[in-house]
Amino acid sequence: MKRPIIAPSLLAADFGNLQRDLEMVNNSEADWLHFDVMDGVFVPNISFGIPLAQAAAKHLRKPLDVHLMIVQPERYLAAFRQAGAAIITVHAEACVHLHRTVQEIKDLGAMAGVALNPHTPVSALENVIADLDLVLVMSVNPGFGGQKFIEHTYQKVRDLKALIQKQNSRALIEIDGGVNAQNAPKLIEAGADALVAGNFVFSSADPVQTIAALKNL
Ligand code: DX5
Ligand code: ZN
Repeated sequence: MKRPIIAPSLLAADFGNLQRDLEMVNNSEADWLHFDVMDGVFVPNISFGIPLAQAAAKHLRKPLDVHLMIVQPERYLAAFRQAGAAIITVHAEACVHLHRTVQEIKDLGAMAGVALNPHTPVSALENVIADLDLVLVMSVNPGFGGQKFIEHTYQKVRDLKALIQKQNSRALIEIDGGVNAQNAPKLIEAGADALVAGNFVFSSADPVQTIAALKNL
């Protein structure tokens, strides 16, 4: 099976031992660190923001994968890029001028991603897919870690893969929410390139080993 990109989600880390958990990620087979920014408006939860991105990027030896679950994300693109984001993903549902926002991310020199909520069809990306580096498929409703994986995701990944191929897009498909060793092989088979894993990694007895298991399914 194709080896996926693995992105442990910092949201599930022990915030009292952040440096330890960041070192764990550095010393693991993880490819990216997923960084969930929530504003309490776009999603019903508040997480963390720019100062923590800066601190994490300083200790991290892997790309920082920033997922903006905020309204008007265009206001903060430069700040997250400056803080060290390598990938910046905005929600399609939060962007009135998605095409412009994607161009702004690219102009900042970051990889540009767009996230889709579970109810948002893949067809919403038809006119922008060619410009994207990444599509983040939400496999739970955004806002919290530790939720149950939505089964419809497999079909959505297949539809998205078809759209990407049809338009010759280089976009990677990243899956976010409820990912574990059971659904991971099916997601890769459906066309996923990258897997976010929060609780599955950080709640396990041996996170380094759990990351390796996901990487080498
Ligand atoms: C949810 C976040 C996810 C979350 C995933 O809104 O976008 O990145 O951290 O956590 P798990 O893997 O525990 O579902
Ligand atoms: Zn996320």
